Amino acid sequence: MILVTGGAGFIGSNFVLDWFAHHDEAVIGLDKLTYAGNLENLASLKDDPRHIFVHGDIGDVELVTRLLAQYRPRAIVNFAAESHVDRSIHGPEDFIQTNIVGTFHLLEAVRTYWSGLTGEEKTGFRFLHVSTDEVYGSLAKGDPAFSETHRYEPNSPYSASKAASDHLVRAYHHTYGLPVLTTNCSNNYGPYHFPEKLIPLMIVNALAGKPLPVYGDGQQIRDWLYVRDHCAAIRCVLAKGRLGEVYNIGGWNEKANIEIVHTVCALLDELRPLKPGSREWEAGSGKDTPPTPHSPLPTYRSLITFVADRPGHDRRYAIDARKIERELGWKPAETFETGIRKTVQWYLDNQGWVSNVQSGSYRQWVEKNYAGRGE
Ligand code: NAD
Ligand code: DAU
Repeated sequence: MILVTGGAGFIGSNFVLDWFAHHDEAVIGLDKLTYAGNLENLASLKDDPRHIFVHGDIGDVELVTRLLAQYRPRAIVNFAAESHVDRSIHGPEDFIQTNIVGTFHLLEAVRTYWSGLTGEEKTGFRFLHVSTDEVYGSLAKGDPAFSETHRYEPNSPYSASKAASDHLVRAYHHTYGLPVLTTNCSNNYGPYHFPEKLIPLMIVNALAGKPLPVYGDGQQIRDWLYVRDHCAAIRCVLAKGRLGEVYNIGGWNEKANIEIVHTVCALLDELRPLKPGSREWEAGSGKDTPPTPHSPLPTYRSLITFVADRPGHDRRYAIDARKIERELGWKPAETFETGIRKTVQWYLDNQGWVSNVQSGSYRQWVEKNYAGRGE
C-alpha cells in the first residue's frame, strides 16, 4: 500500500480518487483535517476496503512511526501542507509549523522506517514530496519558464515554507540516501477546490451575485493545470522518476488573472445565464439600466471588482515541463478550455458541496460518518 498525507485536501483527494481509477493498491490517508481537509471529497470511498483514513498530523512522529510499522507502505506521497498564500500573509505560523517542522518530523519517522527495511522493500521504497512552482519566485514578461535548475527565490511565507521543505527533502536524500522524488507544480484547478482560491472563489461568488475581487490590475500570470493531469504526473513520477530528481509539472497554460475571470464569467453566462431583474443581475452594473427588449444581455462580468493587491504579489509564474515529458513521457491531457469547462460544470452540479464547505457543516458530516469507526 501507499501512504498519502493531506489526502482530504483539494489535490490529495483528487489523487486518491484518481489512484483507485487506475490501481487496486490500498491507500492509507493521513490528514489533520484543517479547514482545508474535507472527507466529503472522499465520500465515494466510504465503504471501500482499499482506503483507510487516519485523522492525524504529519508532525506527530509517534503516530507516523506506528502507522509505518503497522501498514508497511512501499511509498509515501506528501501533499500535507498549509497551501493558501493569503493566509500565510495574515498568519505565517501554521505554515512554518506544518510545512517546515511537520515535514521535518515526517522525514525523521520515514528515515527510521526506511533504515529498518531490507532487500526489495528497501530498494523499492519512495518518498514523493509534492511542491510548488512558487519556490522559484517571480518571472518578468519574456523571461524563460522555470526549469528544475532555476534558483530558489520564494517571496511569500507560504512559498518560503515550501522551499524550506524542499531543501529538507533534498538533504535527506543527499545525507542519508533516503529515496526521494520532488515535484514542483503550477496552479491546479478542478473539482473539490476550496473556494478561497481564485477559480472556485470566482465561480461561487458569481453564482451568489457577490463581487468578483481581482487583486491589483489583474495582469498577474499563472500557469494553470487541470488537477487530474497533476495526479497523473505524480503517478508517473512515483513509478518511473529517477531517485533524488526534481520534476517540474505544468500545463503550458499561461493566463492573466483577469482573463481567467473573464473565461469563468463567459462560461457561467452560457451555462447559467443571468435573468434580468434577478438578485445577481441587480448586484451587477445592470441595475442602473432597467432592461428593455434592446438591452445587451446581462453578464457576470458586471460583478468584477478590482481590489487592493496582495502584498508581495508575484507577477508571473511559468513552468518548463519538458523534463518530465522527455524522461517520463508525461504531458497534460486537458487543454485549459476543456478543463475549465469541466470545472465550472462541476461547481454547478455540486452546489451542496459548496454550501457544506461554506457553512462548515462538513465537519458534522465527518463526525456523523466516521465517529466510532476507528482507523
Ligand atoms: P489544500 O490546502 O487543499 O490541502 C491540504 C491538506 O493537507 C488538507 O487536507 C489539510 O487538512 C492537510 N493538512 C494540513 N496540515 C496538515 C498536517 N500538519 N498533517 C496532516 N495533514 C495536514 O492544499 P492543495 O491545494 O491540495 O495542495 C496540496 C499540496 O500540493 C501542497 O503541498 C501544496 O503546496 C502543493 N501544491 C498545490 C498547488 C495548487 O495549485 N493548489 C500547486 C502546486 C503544489
Ligand atoms: O503556483 C502554485 C500555487 O498556486 C500553489 O503552490 C498554491 O498552493 C496555490 O494556492 C496557488 O497559489 P496562488 O497564489 O497562485 O493561487 P490563488 O488562487 O490564491 O491566486 C491565483 C491568482 O489570483 C494570484 O495572482 C492572486 C489572484 N487572486 C486570488 C484571489 C483569491 C485574485 O486576484 N483575487 C482573489 O480573490
